[in-house]
Amino acid sequence: MNTTPNPLKITEVALRDAHQSLLATRMKTEDMLPIAEKMDAVGFFSLEAWGGATFDTCIRFLNEDPWERARQLKKKIPNTPLQMLLRGQNCVGYRHYADDIVERFVKKSYDVGIEIFRIFDALNDLRNIEVAIKTAKKCGGTVEGCISYTVSPVHSTELYVKMAKDLVDMGSDIICIKDMAGLLMPQVTTKLVRELKKTIDIPIHLHSHATTGLAGMNIQCAIDEGLDMVDTAISSLSMGTSHFPTECVVAALKDSPRDTGLDLDALEEISNYFLEVRKHYAQFESNFIGVDINILKSQIPGGMISNMENQLKEQNALDKMDEVLKEVPRVRKDLGYPPLVTPTSQIVGSQATLNVLTGERYKIITKETRECVLGKYGKLPAEIDPELLEKVAKDQKVIDCRPADLLVPEWDTIVEEAGDDAKTDEDRLTYAMFPKVALKFFATRGKPLPESAAPAAPAPASAPAAQPAAAPASAPAPAAGGSAVYTVSVNGKPYSVQVGTGTGAPAPIAASQPTAAPAPAATPAPSSNGSNKAVTSPLPGSVFALKCKVGDQVNEGDVVMILESMKMETEVNSPHSGTVNSILVQEGANVQTGDELIHIA
Ligand code: CO
Repeated sequence: MNTTPNPLKITEVALRDAHQSLLATRMKTEDMLPIAEKMDAVGFFSLEAWGGATFDTCIRFLNEDPWERARQLKKKIPNTPLQMLLRGQNCVGYRHYADDIVERFVKKSYDVGIEIFRIFDALNDLRNIEVAIKTAKKCGGTVEGCISYTVSPVHSTELYVKMAKDLVDMGSDIICIKDMAGLLMPQVTTKLVRELKKTIDIPIHLHSHATTGLAGMNIQCAIDEGLDMVDTAISSLSMGTSHFPTECVVAALKDSPRDTGLDLDALEEISNYFLEVRKHYAQFESNFIGVDINILKSQIPGGMISNMENQLKEQNALDKMDEVLKEVPRVRKDLGYPPLVTPTSQIVGSQATLNVLTGERYKIITKETRECVLGKYGKLPAEIDPELLEKVAKDQKVIDCRPADLLVPEWDTIVEEAGDDAKTDEDRLTYAMFPKVALKFFATRGKPLPESAAPAAPAPASAPAAQPAAAPASAPAPAAGGSAVYTVSVNGKPYSVQVGTGTGAPAPIAASQPTAAPAPAATPAPSSNGSNKAVTSPLPGSVFALKCKVGDQVNEGDVVMILESMKMETEVNSPHSGTVNSILVQEGANVQTGDELIHIA
C-alpha cells in the first residue's frame, strides 16, 4: 500500500450548491460574510461561492448585486480560491449568448474574484463550452472541464473517458465528474475514476449529490482510485439533495495517507454557524431531505424534485407526482437522452408535467422542447424520437452547427438597450443575462425592500437552476359547485384546471386545457362590456412585449402579448378573432391573473 501522504483536497460548497439544493438558493450575502474569514482559514482547496442559480436569485429575490457579492466575499477570503459554476455558452442564464457576451462575462467574473471556473454543458456538447474555457484560461483562471454524468443506453465509461481527453485538449486544468443528480454507483465510480486516472494526467474532482444516499460510498470508491478533489458541504447544510458532509470526509481520512489536514474543530464552528443561518430560510426547505431512491429511475436532479412538488402542490395536483416522475424518463428518451441538468432538466421536467396534466403526450409542446429537438441547444446524445421529430420539424430546420455560430455579437445592442439604468459593464452583463429582472433590480438596488417583498414573499421555493420552468398557479377564481378554477402556466403555456374545494382530499383535475380554448368545466374569463371581448392575463407577471397594436386584425390563437413570469417568457394567445380595439397595459406593467390586457371587437 502506498503510504506517501497525498492529502485529498476539499471544495466546500456551503456558499453555493448547498443552499441552492436545500434552500432554493436564497442565502443572502449578509449571512455569508460573518463566517467568511473562518472559512478562509480552514485550508479548503476552494470555496464554491458563485454562479449557478445564485446570480439569478440575487437580483430576482434578494435585491443584491451578484458582482458585489463576489467582491465582498473575495475581500474576506483572500487565501482560498473562489469557485463558480458556469453553464458554458449560457453563462448563468438560460439561453445561449453570443460569444462576445460569454467572453465579457467570464472576464468580469475573474475580475471580481473568481479564480476557478467549473464549466459544463447540459448536453455534454463541448462546442458549447469552448469559448468559456478559452476565455477563462486567457484571464488566468483555473478551468474545471465537466463531464455531466448521466445514465442511459448511450452513455458509457468509454464515452466519458473520451470526453475527458477532449476536455484536456481544450485546456482544462482539472476534470470534474459532475454527478448533479446523485446517480453515480460505487462500482461505476471505481471504474470511471480508474479509467480516467489511466488516461489523463490532470487532477480529477468529484461532485456527487447526496440525493440517493450513495455519495459517501462513491467518494470512498473514488478516493481508493486516487481522486484528487471532492466537493462536500458543511454538515449543517449537507445531505438530502445537497452533498456529503465535509466533516465526515475529514474524519474518515484522519491519519490515513489521504488525510485532508483540515481541523474538525474549525469545521464544527462553521457548521454551528450555518445551523443557525439555515433557520432564516425555513420556508424554502425542501421536503425531500432524506434519501430518495426514485431518482435512480427518474434521474431528476437535486433541487428539481422539491420544485416539482411545490408546483404540483399549488395546482392541487400533488397526487400526480408519481405520474410526472414516471413521465420524466420517457420524455428524456424521446429527446435523445440528455443529461438532466439546467436547462435540460427544466425542459424535460416541464414537458413531462404538461404531458401528464394535459392528459395527452405532446398535446402542448413547449418552445424549449421544440428548440431542443431542432438542435438549438446542441447535439443530443442519441436520436430524437421520430414521431416527436416529425411533429416539431414539420416546417422548421434542424441545425447541426455549434448553436452560437448562428448568433451575431450582442454587446452593442445590450449597451443600447440597458441604457442609463445600467451604470457599469457589470450592470450591462446583468442585463444581458436577465433583461427585465435586471431593470427592476437597478430601480430597487440599495433600497430596503418592503416587508412583503422580502425574499419570503415573491415565489414558491424554487431554485432557478433546478426548477422545472413553471410559473406558480394563480389564485383560484371561484366557480360553481364548490370547486375553483386555476389558471396555471407550465413553461409559459397557460391552461385552466378545475379542482374541488371540498373538505376531503383534492379532487382530481377536471379539466386541463389551454386557456385559449377553455374547457367546458372552466369558468370563462371575465369579458368586458358591449361587443368588446377581452384578452385576460393567464398568470401574474409583467408585460414583456406587445405583439399587436390597435387596429390589428387577430385570429383566435394568435400571440398578442408576451408576459414574463418566474423568468419564463409566456405567450398570451387571443381567445377571440377580431380587431384590436384597445390595449389596456403598457410594456413593463405588472398584471395579475384575470386582468384585462386587450379588448378585441
Ligand atoms: Co450540484
